Amino acid sequence: MLIKRKRGWDIQESQATPESVYFSRRKLLGAGASLAAASFFPERAQAQNAADVPDPTAALYPAKRNDKYKFDGKLTEEKVAANYNNFYEYGTSKYIAKSAQQLQLRPWQIKFDGMVEKEQTVDFDTLMKAVAPSLQERTYRLRCVEAWSAVIPWTGFPMAELVKFAKPLSGAKYIRMETFNNPKMAPEQRPGFLSDGNWPYVEGCTLEEANNELAFMVTGAYGKPGYKQFGAPIRLMMPWKYGFKAIKSIVRVSFTSERPIGYWEQLQRQEYGFWANVNPEFSHPRWSQASERDIGTGERRSTMIFNGYGDYVAGLYKDLKSERLWA
Ligand code: MTE
Repeated sequence: MLIKRKRGWDIQESQATPESVYFSRRKLLGAGASLAAASFFPERAQAQNAADVPDPTAALYPAKRNDKYKFDGKLTEEKVAANYNNFYEYGTSKYIAKSAQQLQLRPWQIKFDGMVEKEQTVDFDTLMKAVAPSLQERTYRLRCVEAWSAVIPWTGFPMAELVKFAKPLSGAKYIRMETFNNPKMAPEQRPGFLSDGNWPYVEGCTLEEANNELAFMVTGAYGKPGYKQFGAPIRLMMPWKYGFKAIKSIVRVSFTSERPIGYWEQLQRQEYGFWANVNPEFSHPRWSQASERDIGTGERRSTMIFNGYGDYVAGLYKDLKSERLWA
């Protein structure tokens, strides 16, 4: 995945937003201070595009915070996180925020197929209606395999709710997810670029991982929906795994009995595997994973096993010692 490493993200400590400042900004937003919001969040204008249709889910934001999942460190300032992204459909640099505004979020349909009681294609807004009671905000650290990390308040719902919605059959063991495939709204998504024509981006996990309480379907960030560079309208977050597992802009969710092969796994299996759990002691073939650069503070910090979420997920892997769990 690492095509070239840029160090443009070296940001000074003083630019990071302390958690308390961010959450007091949110209280203000919750009180309906939309004008204030526009000046607090200049990115908001950028996150929208003249061709965008109104978002019927907008009233669900900001969602109620769930503080159960503690994170260490400082929340990454919004303008830093929203301008340092991996979304290869829009280019190989980290600075794809502007180009990602070409993403058209409506209509957006998601197909549920494979080993399910009944295959269905549902509109994203219909899915949102079904899961709205469990919509919440959780702050997770995202740890990229390239050894950078960010601490982001994500809005979304537990992946277990998505599984419930899909009604998988008892033989289903894995979930395979696909990103859209449309060079008209993602010009870099063309044959010969990166994947030799093997778009779309694909990722997968086990059903057991999907049902873990940490697995989260993200529909917004920093208290608002439709954040294109973050993979709107819906992407995955499994914070104990390297970020490439966190597939963006999902249009298909398939239940299977066979382990799916991800986009990067297909390209470079020896470097990017199926499990991809964060482990500081297991180096990437080309660099160490012992530490990471926090893009918010600019500081280097020690990487933690399972990105610090071992209490929740280590049990998932106890009988899988012979697997390549860390790549
Ligand atoms: N999903 C798609 N469809 N395309 C991508 O290029 N990049 C992945 C992941 N999901 C990617 C993707 C990688 S490598 C990382 S580190 C995270 O998204 C980055 O998420 P962020 O940009 O929201 O920080």
